[in-house]
Amino acid sequence: MSRYIINGGNTLSGKVKISGAKNSALKLIAASILADSRVTLKNVPDIEDVRTMVEVLRTLNVSVVFNSSNNILEIDPSTINSFEAPYELVRKMRASVLVAGPLLAKFGEVKVAIPGGCNIGARQIDIHLKGFEELGAKNFIEHGYINCSIDSKKSMHAGRRKLAGATINLDFPSRGATENLMMAATLAEGKTVINNAAREKEIPDLANFLISMGADIKGAGTDSITIVGVRSLNGSVYSIMPDSIEAGTFITAAGLCGKKVEIEDAIRENMEIFCLKLREAGIELNSTSKNNIVVSRPKKALRPLNISTLPYPGFPTDLQPIIAVPLSIAPGVSIITENVFENRFMYVEELNRMGANIKIEGHHAVINGVKKLSGAPVKAFDLRAGAAMVLAGLVAEGTTEVFDIHHIQRGYERFADKLTGLGADIKVVDD
Ligand code: EPZ
Repeated sequence: MSRYIINGGNTLSGKVKISGAKNSALKLIAASILADSRVTLKNVPDIEDVRTMVEVLRTLNVSVVFNSSNNILEIDPSTINSFEAPYELVRKMRASVLVAGPLLAKFGEVKVAIPGGCNIGARQIDIHLKGFEELGAKNFIEHGYINCSIDSKKSMHAGRRKLAGATINLDFPSRGATENLMMAATLAEGKTVINNAAREKEIPDLANFLISMGADIKGAGTDSITIVGVRSLNGSVYSIMPDSIEAGTFITAAGLCGKKVEIEDAIRENMEIFCLKLREAGIELNSTSKNNIVVSRPKKALRPLNISTLPYPGFPTDLQPIIAVPLSIAPGVSIITENVFENRFMYVEELNRMGANIKIEGHHAVINGVKKLSGAPVKAFDLRAGAAMVLAGLVAEGTTEVFDIHHIQRGYERFADKLTGLGADIKVVDD
C-alpha cells in the first residue's frame, strides 16, 4: 500500500492547472455506450476511477484507447455485445451503475451488480430504479444483481424494445439518478420530463455531450429537464469541464499556506457558495481572467464559519471535509452540518490526532479552532477525507504520513506532483 510523507510549513506559490472533472468524465464515458459510432473525449483526468470505468466498457466488448499523455479517450461502441456490469467492477467503483441507463436504452435490458454502500453512506439506488420503472422497465433483484428489462409485449418500436417517455418526479435531487434517467430517456419513445432534477454543473456537461451526439434535451442544470427520444445517437468529439472539487481543494491549500497561487481552470461560477464561504472566513479570492483564481494565505487569523451541505447550488458535500481543515485552526467555534451523506465525518478523528478539537454531534461537527496542527500518522478513509488529511499535513508542524492513499488516487490526477510543483514537501512511498 502507498502512503504520502508530508513535511508541513512550506509556502505554496506558482501556478497549478485543474484537470477534467471526475464526476463528469465517468458519466460521459458511460454515455458513450449510446452512440452507434466512435466517440472522442478530451480533458479526461488520468485517475483510477476513469481506468475502472474504461474496464467496465471493455467487459461490454467496447473498444477503448486512453492516451494518458494528452488525456484523450477514444471509444468505439459499435462492437458492444453485452449488457452486464460485473460485481467486481461495480464493487470497486459504484459509479459503474451509471452504465445501466445507457444499456437499458440500447438493449432493452441491463444486469448490473448492486453497488452496495461505501465509507460515506448507504448510497442507495432506489430512485434510479423507480425512474426506470416509470419509463416502462421491470426490475427484479437476484443473486446481488439488479435485472432490469423492458416489457417486450408492449414496447416494440421498429423491431427494438424501447422505453416509453414519462414524467418522473425524483424523491431527492440525486445526481446519479438524474444522469442515469436522462441517458435512458435519450432513446425512449416520446417525451420524458425529470422533475426535482439535480442541478450540479456536471449535469449540463453530460447533457451537452448527449446533445452533441444528437440527443434532444432542454433544461439541464435546472430542476426540470425535458428529453425527447430520438432514433439513434452518433459519436462526437467533446471536451470535459474542469473539476470544481479539485479546484476547491487547491484553493483551500493556497488559503492555508499559499502566496499568490494561481489556480488555472477554476470556474468561480461553478463553486459560488464555496468561494463566498472562503471569503467569509477571510480568504481573498482574486482573478486575472474568467478561468483562474489567485489565492494567498490571509495575514490575519481565519474567521470561524457555519457550513451546511446541500445539493447544488448549496455548499457541496465533497468540499465539506476540505473546508474543515482551515476551520480547525480558525479561532472560535465553527459548525459543519452534513445533510447529504450519513457518514461523512470519518476524517474528524484523524484531524483530532493532529491536535484539532472537533466533536461530532449527530450530523454536526462542532469545531473549536486550535492554534496549530501537528504532524502525525493518519489514514485516508475516503477520497475527500484523504485529500483533507493532505491539506492538514501541508499546514501542520512536523511530518505527517497519510496511509491508504489509493482512495485519493481514485479522484485526483497527479496530486502529489501538482502540490510539489507549488513548493509542497510531499513524497509518495510505496510499502
Ligand atoms: C455523486 O454521487 C458524486 N459521485 C459524489 O461524489 C457526490 O458526493 C454526490 O454526487 C453528491 O453531490 C459521482 O458523481 C461519481 P446522489 P451520487 O445520487 O450520484 C441518496 C466524490 O467524492 N440516494 O446525489 O451517488 C444517497 O444515498 C463523490 O467525488 C438515495 O437514497 O450522489 C445520498 O445520501 C463522493 N437513493 C444522496 O442521495 C438513490 O437512488 C446523494 O446521492 C440515489 C441517491
